[in-house]
Amino acid sequence: MKIRVLFVCLGNICRSPMAEAVFQQLVNEAGLETEIEVDSAGTSSWHVGEPAHPGTRKILARNGISYSGTSRSIDRAELSDDHTYVIAMDESNERQIKSLSQKHDRVFRLLEFSTQTAGRDVPDPYYSGDFDLVYTLVEDACRGLLKAIKDWEGI
Ligand code: 4NP
Repeated sequence: MKIRVLFVCLGNICRSPMAEAVFQQLVNEAGLETEIEVDSAGTSSWHVGEPAHPGTRKILARNGISYSGTSRSIDRAELSDDHTYVIAMDESNERQIKSLSQKHDRVFRLLEFSTQTAGRDVPDPYYSGDFDLVYTLVEDACRGLLKAIKDWEGI
């Protein structure tokens, strides 16, 4: 059974699509595409159907990563799937995820896997405009996350 990694933020246009694209790239580089499926979703439905924010698309492109996904909102069923790691960007996302599903053992915050100590929440660039900082945090933590999943799953 394929392992799923689902990144979750509020709008699914800034942070979680960035994490999805970066993590997918790391999975590809590790040759684990057949073992790990990567996706993202939002806790809101405010931007459903829209492409990622221009700031996210720009910094991904600058780092040679393509992304063509569009925003969708999470559904309750996918949160309780045994093979899905649900990775929240901030405390508010995490709280919402945990209120939608009783299964909490595979719910994490992305920066739990960070080597930096800047804080536990990925700051929202929709408000701050600082997509560079977010990219740095996301990339570092995605590396840690992949390592943790490889260890846990024995792959
Ligand atoms: P995201 O950022 O959760 O990282 O996708 C946001 C996107 C849109 C809004 C807020 C945050 N919004 O208020 O529309």
